[in-house]
Parts: sequence; C-alpha cells; structure tokens
Amino acid sequence: MIPRITIRGVEFSPGLFCAPLAEVTHSAFRRLVAEFGGCGALFTEMLNGREILREDFQRSPYVLRRPVEKKVFYQLMLRSSDPVEQIIGRLAENHPDGIDINLACYAPVIRQLDAGSGLFENPIALASVLQSARASWSGPLTVKIRLGHSTIGAEDRFAERLRIIENSGIDAITLHTRFFEDKFKRRSRHELFAWATTLTKLPIIANGDITGARIVRDNAALFQTVAGFMIGRMAIAKPWIFAAWNQPVEINYAEVWRRLHDYICEDFEPEIAIKRMRLFTKYYARNFHFGHTFSSAIQNAPDMDAARSCAEEFFGVPQAVFEEPSMMGI
Ligand SMILES: Cc1cc2nc3c(=O)[nH]c(=O)nc-3n(C[C@H](O)[C@H](O)[C@H](O)COP(=O)(O)O)c2cc1C
Repeated sequence: MIPRITIRGVEFSPGLFCAPLAEVTHSAFRRLVAEFGGCGALFTEMLNGREILREDFQRSPYVLRRPVEKKVFYQLMLRSSDPVEQIIGRLAENHPDGIDINLACYAPVIRQLDAGSGLFENPIALASVLQSARASWSGPLTVKIRLGHSTIGAEDRFAERLRIIENSGIDAITLHTRFFEDKFKRRSRHELFAWATTLTKLPIIANGDITGARIVRDNAALFQTVAGFMIGRMAIAKPWIFAAWNQPVEINYAEVWRRLHDYICEDFEPEIAIKRMRLFTKYYARNFHFGHTFSSAIQNAPDMDAARSCAEEFFGVPQAVFEEPSMMGI
C-alpha cells in the first residue's frame, strides 16, 4: 500500500502520481486513467505559461478537466521574463489542485528559452520565478527536477538548487534520478533518493523507471525516505497501472485502445487526434509480443478511421501480452 501524501494541506491519496507527459497527458488520456482510478493526482503535460493567458478552459484539451479526473496538477513552463502573477492568476480560474513548475526538460527549444532545465541551471532566475509563483498562488506548489549535469561539482550544485527551491516556499519536489545528459539511455539512479532526501526537508516524490508495485516492494530500502511515486511511460503502456497497484485488474486491451480513440476524437481536431493516437500506440504496443507490427501500422495510418481499422484487425486475433512491457529505447 502506498500511503497518502499531504501537500500544503491538500491530501493526495495514495501518493501515486501520473507524470506530466507532453502530447500524452491531455484531457482524453487523463479521463481514461481516471476512470480506472487509483491515482492520487494526474499531471497535465507541460503547458507554456504564456499560452495559459489565451486558453479556453472549456475546450482546450490541454487545460480542460472533467469531474472524473478529481485531482489535477497543472505543470507550467515558466521563464524569468514571463508575467508569472498574471499566468497563475488566470490558471487559478480553473481551480488546479496543484501547480508544478518544470525544471527538468532538456529539449533544446525549451533550454533556448531559459526554461525547464535551463531555469534549473540559473540560480538567480530560478529563485525569482519560484518566488513570484509562490507569491501568486497559495495552494500546493511543486517542482519537477532531474539531478542536473553530471560534471564536476554536480553534488554541490544539486544541493544548492534544493536550498533555493526550499527557500522559495515550494511544497514538494518530484525528482527524476537521471542527469540531464542521461536522457533515457541508462537506468534511473534509485540509489540516490536516500542521499537527496537528506538535503531538504521537503517531501520528495520518486520518478524514473518506477514500473509498478513490484519494483517498489523489491527495492523498499532505496525508497524508504521518499514521500510518493510518479509513473510516466509505464502509465502510457498501462493506463490502469494505478488501479492495479494493489490488486489484479482484468483488462480488455482492445476496449482500452478504442476508448482512448473515442475520447481523443471527442477532444481534438482530426489532424491532431491522429498524432496523439500514434504517440500513445507507440507505448501501448509494447504490451504485445507482436506489438511492433501494430505500432508501425498506426504510425502509417493517415487518419483516425484508418487507425481504428488497423486496430480492429490487430485485436481481431488473440494477442500474447507481456506482464511487464519494456520501455527500453522510448
Ligand atoms: C513522451 C514523454 C513526454 C514527456 N513530457 C514531459 C513533460 O511535459 N513534463 C515533464 O516534466 N516531464 C516530461 N517527461 C518526463 C516524464 O514526466 C518522466 O519524468 C520520465 O518519463 C521518467 O519517468 P518514467 O521512467 O516513469 O517514464 C516526458 C517523458 C516522455 C516519455
């Protein structure tokens, strides 16, 4: 059993979170995960702070939320030149259960804006953005980080960033225990959680290669000091992973794929819908022994109707599934 976590007076039960995943954790996917249940809160994908000022909260699949989702954290990409107070003021109209600031993204386009990992690396801008966010929002305010660069001085730099985060009034930290340059090439360094938690009094949520209850149970000593867990890629492959944490859940794989297809059609314009379905299927197909044929059929499908036909053909014959699909290389 994963205990609940209370962040700034708000209870998240259990302390299990669906990670922010660009082009995946949109309204349709969050609806699907939420229908299975078992997740303490769902994170939106990283949202460009400035876009929040223009978003239609009733229609945009990035910010739209349905009652079934229950608790939702909105993850923001912020830069020091952003009107942080205005952005958070607008976002507050949508009643987020928490706001998270991305300090981990290593994509060049984000770093060029001095956001994501670029903001993490600039202590002055970091403190300024976090303090503005804190002054603008009285609810749970969290950050998501990696270990930083793996160059000389990494430990001291990391400890200093944690101090800035804590002194800026942030309530909790999600730590993905990889260095920026690791990308996804090597395994997440779970052995570093014990050290990281000695550097701050803030609760740390563990992220990176948390593939299910078994890894947490089998490595209990490594996770003793963390306050919760965040699941990314395995939640795409198994949107029921939170519901299945403590008990087996019977899954109809075809029905889950079709349901997301329907939800995506409902929320997205057709040309974006097919892109979202392709990305989801890349991960979902890892469940099946012959998933690569399914995945490539969907990558080549020109539209949602064609994708549906490919899926019906694939699911029309019994498919062998892996108990724990590999996320290697994606
Ligand atoms: C397709 C994809 C999109 C992602 N988008 C985001 C994002 O928008 N914000 C973020 O903080 N991390 C993002 N990440 C990183 C994940 O949130 C998570 O930290 C990472 O996948 C490690 O967790 P996992 O091993 O459980 O997947 C993304 C990862 C993937 C694979």
